[in-house]
Amino acid sequence: MIILKSPQELKKMRKSCQIVAKVIQELKDYIKEGLTTKQIEQFVENLIIKMGGIPAFKGYRGYPASACISINEQVVHGIPSEKVFIKEGDIVSVDVGVLCESFYGDGAYTYPVGRISEEAERLLRVTEEALYKGISEAVQGKRVGDISYAIQMHVESNGFSVVRAFVGHGIGRSLHEEPPVPNFGSKGVGPILKKGMTLAIEPMVNVGTHEVEILSDGWTAVTKDGSLSAHFEHTIVITEGEPEILTKI
Ligand code: CO
Repeated sequence: MIILKSPQELKKMRKSCQIVAKVIQELKDYIKEGLTTKQIEQFVENLIIKMGGIPAFKGYRGYPASACISINEQVVHGIPSEKVFIKEGDIVSVDVGVLCESFYGDGAYTYPVGRISEEAERLLRVTEEALYKGISEAVQGKRVGDISYAIQMHVESNGFSVVRAFVGHGIGRSLHEEPPVPNFGSKGVGPILKKGMTLAIEPMVNVGTHEVEILSDGWTAVTKDGSLSAHFEHTIVITEGEPEILTKI
């Protein structure tokens, strides 16, 4: 069942999503070569709590940290570690979830560290563009498949591939609600978008094969061919006009 949110519920979702937005913004200045992924996660956790939120990922299905931090060929769900140091040329995906007043917000961004390769730069640009192409299809009366199709088209026409193993999702009083929002698929299929639907749209894009593997920690997803991967995510709400991006400052 897809749960539509009332204006009062959306007010609460805006709060949790604005905490996500602020964290993602602050990380742009914070992430630097020499930091460990654990330090980045600590920074995220402190900021969420300072702003009155609860880190949503910690303890979720046993996930051990307040943010997912995935470097280079890591796709999603990287576990922060005090042994992993960020270095110049890395791309660092940070996924942030917040619970506030019973509603969740979810967002992700991939940060370049210092000078990165031209290919990495293009990967980040195309993945973020794909997210916005998907968002622009998130209009009342269209279907989930229209979002999926727009994302996949943009990614593949640029020679990259879309991860199939993880998808976007409805979000609200639960972190994951109906409907699934794949980053691949066909126009005109899937549930009809209605005003008040709240969706986390989150393309994960690989330079090489779309296939992923899970490391022995049980969480970290990496590309099967070791190629780079990027991840951008926003929580949005369907309106009568343009979607409102709840996780945008
Ligand atoms: Co998500």
